[in-house]
Amino acid sequence: MITNTATRYGLVARVFHWTIAVLILADIALGLLGKFTPRSGDTVGFLQVLYSTHKTIGVTVLFLAVLRVIWAISQPRPVPLHPERRVETFAAETAHWVLYAAIFVLPISGWVMHSAEVGFAPIWWPLPQNLPFTPKSESLAIIAANVHWISGIVLAATVAAHVSGALKHAVLDRDGTLARMWNGRGVGNASATDANKSASLLAALAVWMFAIGGALTVFAPTHNDTATSQLPARQAAGWVVKDGTLSITITQIGAQVTGGFASWQAAVDYDPETGTGTINTVIDTTSLTLGAVSDQAKGPEFFDVTSHAQAVFEGEIAQIDGPQHTATGTLTLAGQTVPVTLDFDLDITEGDATVSGGTVLDRRDFGMGAAYPDESSVGFSVDVLIELTATRPE
Ligand code: HEM
Ligand code: HEM
Repeated sequence: MITNTATRYGLVARVFHWTIAVLILADIALGLLGKFTPRSGDTVGFLQVLYSTHKTIGVTVLFLAVLRVIWAISQPRPVPLHPERRVETFAAETAHWVLYAAIFVLPISGWVMHSAEVGFAPIWWPLPQNLPFTPKSESLAIIAANVHWISGIVLAATVAAHVSGALKHAVLDRDGTLARMWNGRGVGNASATDANKSASLLAALAVWMFAIGGALTVFAPTHNDTATSQLPARQAAGWVVKDGTLSITITQIGAQVTGGFASWQAAVDYDPETGTGTINTVIDTTSLTLGAVSDQAKGPEFFDVTSHAQAVFEGEIAQIDGPQHTATGTLTLAGQTVPVTLDFDLDITEGDATVSGGTVLDRRDFGMGAAYPDESSVGFSVDVLIELTATRPE
């Protein structure tokens, strides 16, 4: 039977339940795997696929959740099997409400985080990536990440209780609770009433108010301790980059073409006492514009942004003389990791740091433009220019 009755779950409700259950469990596993994978040039490609999968599953859950609720509203809810066990019925019903809310709170908080961040792991779909009215904002991304994390804990704990309850019914009580959801068997007394309905709804609301309220206030992270998938750089303590430009200049048929990346982030950890530190820059290669040849530059022959949407520069800073510094490290671009040295001037005045420098790359090191083996149409060297200002948080 497709629809519910007072004693059974219809096919549609069961398909919704198990499809969403599998997707949720997969997404919890992927989310945790991502959280505990170290961020480095080596893991960037893996993390990108992992998070794109995670996000795509997550938004699928959101759409299924909308359909599920529309369907559930139009259906009778099967009666509790043991209405006389007031506490147990109340706990089970509360868990159901908490789970219903979770399939909205988790994807929406995830999507807000994705929209607010400078992205590198896209949702694999043809629809817009970002939620409307959601600004690109680091502080919003941190808030959403924290709501996502605390809600994930609530979800995981509730799923654990929910699954334990289902197993208890199957193994100890040997009643039809699990069978009713698994194969649609009709069990229970159709005239039983659910005395706990509004109390369990209120309890679930209280759980979510506590969780989301807590995520926004007492559990809110301090600025530097949030690790996000998008911006490994954010883990580095130290200077906060306020603004800047990252531009490149290439030579095309003898003429110079300059363009740049609209989306990139840098974390600078620098100690003026010793003149040493680290710089970690994550560049969204999809944000490249390069005069009239933006599309070619982003295509498979050059930056190949579909396969490599992110470039990462990680370097150790050393002071050469006065404002003159170098950052020696590696640049991972278009799937190739190449040693690179960035020369720059660093000026610090009243807590503000200005960085201005650059380097020259050879496109052949990154396997770019193999179809252009000489310099007649595209030059080998690419000038990179970086300018940024940063402040040190109190
Ligand atoms: C894989 C482990 C799972 C098992 C064994 C399981 C088992 C069950 C069972 C037996 C019921 C029927 C309870 C009753 O009739 O009183 C049920 C209902 C329900 N389950 Fe699960 N479940 C699992 C995972 C999940 C997950 C991950 C979610 C998260 C969304 C979830 C959400 C719900 C909801 C909201 C209900 C209420 C019925 C409805 O309105 O569809 N379940 N589950
Ligand atoms: C079924 C829905 C979802 C579940 C159960 C879920 C669960 C999780 C879990 C358990 C984590 C690891 C803990 C953490 O770092 O917060 C995580 C991380 C993450 N999720 Fe989700 N998620 C869901 C949907 C989404 C969606 C729709 C998006 C974006 C469109 C998303 C984006 C992210 C991101 C970017 C992270 C990394 C957060 C960070 O490192 O701070 N998630 N998710």
